[in-house]
Parts: sequence; C-alpha cells; structure tokens
Amino acid sequence: RKRVVVFISGGGSNMLALVKAAGEPDFPADIVAVISDKADAGGLAKAAALGIATFSFVRKDYASKDAHEAAILSTLESLSPDIICLAGYMRLLSATFINAYEGRIINIHPSLLPLFPGLHTHQRAIDAGMTQAGCTVHFVTEGMDEGPVILQTAVPVLPGDTVDDLAARVLVEEHKAYPKALRLVAEGKVRMNGGRTLRDEGGLTRDLS
Ligand code: GAR
Repeated sequence: RKRVVVFISGGGSNMLALVKAAGEPDFPADIVAVISDKADAGGLAKAAALGIATFSFVRKDYASKDAHEAAILSTLESLSPDIICLAGYMRLLSATFINAYEGRIINIHPSLLPLFPGLHTHQRAIDAGMTQAGCTVHFVTEGMDEGPVILQTAVPVLPGDTVDDLAARVLVEEHKAYPKALRLVAEGKVRMNGGRTLRDEGGLTRDLS
C-alpha cells in the first residue's frame, strides 16, 4: 500500500473521505499523516481523533515562503510519502517543492478546470450562467489549480442556485471523486508524464463516474 500525506487548510471533509476510503481493505493506500498551514484547521482535530498523525506549519512562524516549505519538506522526509493529496490546502507550492515530489502531488478543485481556478469558484460559475459545474482532481504543477486532469465529475447548476447550494452539490461529488482518483494514482493506472496524463486504458474508460 502506498503512503499518503494529506494537506489541508480547513474543515477537511475531503481528507475524511480519503481516510474513509483508505479504511477499506482493498484500498491501495494508507493516510499516514495530515499537514495543515493553519493550527486551528477543523480537519486537524478530526484527523487526530482518528489516530492519524497531524502537523501544522503556520506561515507566519517562518521568515519566508522558502523557510516554511523547507520545514514541511523536512517533516515529509521522515514520513516518506509516495503520494501527497492537497485537499483544500489554500497555498501555492513552489517549483522546488513540486519538483521534490514530481508527479506525486494531486489536488482537488471544485470546478471543471481549466474553468474557474482559484477563489470564489462557485460564484464565478453562477455569474457566468453555467448550466454545468463540477470538480476536478489533477496532478499539481506550478500554476494554481493547473496540471493534467486525472478525473472530473459534472453536476448541474440549477436555476436559483446560491453559492452554498452549488458548493454542497459539488462537494458530494468531490467526496467520491477524490478517493477514486487516489486509487487510480496509487495503482499506477494514471500517471503524469511530460506534463500530461497517461492512462492505462486496460479496462479503463474516460468516464469514471
Ligand atoms: C473543497 O471544496 C476543495 O475542492 C476546495 O476547498 C474545499 C475544501 O473543503 N479546494 C480549492 O478551492 C483549491 N483551490 P474540505 O476542507 O471540506 O475538504
């Protein structure tokens, strides 16, 4: 089984979905630790209550972004993760960090990327008059919410939807998509190569939902 470290900044519902999936005997990965850039991230307490090792690295405790990342990298070295899952981690990783785990960092974002990266995703989708929204799990490259797609799930945007309505509808799908994507990566069925996604098409179709 692959060793996975999950990065969070908030409530950690996606992290919990990954932990739950990893509790299944046939799942190919274990969540060995949760790392946050916020000492009070709700997800940290939830992970600790489940007996998972937790670490927080508060940015203002470090003189620079480099020093902050160096501290995280040094802890990661002792955890020796095979895969890092960003799950609502609201900080851009540097090229140095990403290169240290090239092709082994994945992220979930609540839109159909490349549409609406960054913040206020759902508001922007509603304002654009979109009739479809969704979530994307992708390999992490240097840009924010960029990188080759592993898996996407679409949901409808309904007339009168508020941001909260749409966010809740997408979140239900995030909790299914992220474990599915992690399984594919952990089993080596999907991997990043030269900035693109390679899929083992043996028994795999593009629509995995
Ligand atoms: C999720 O909707 C995730 O997709 C989003 O933050 C939320 C975290 O919720 N991530 C991003 O916007 C990344 N750009 P959670 O803490 O309950 O998993």
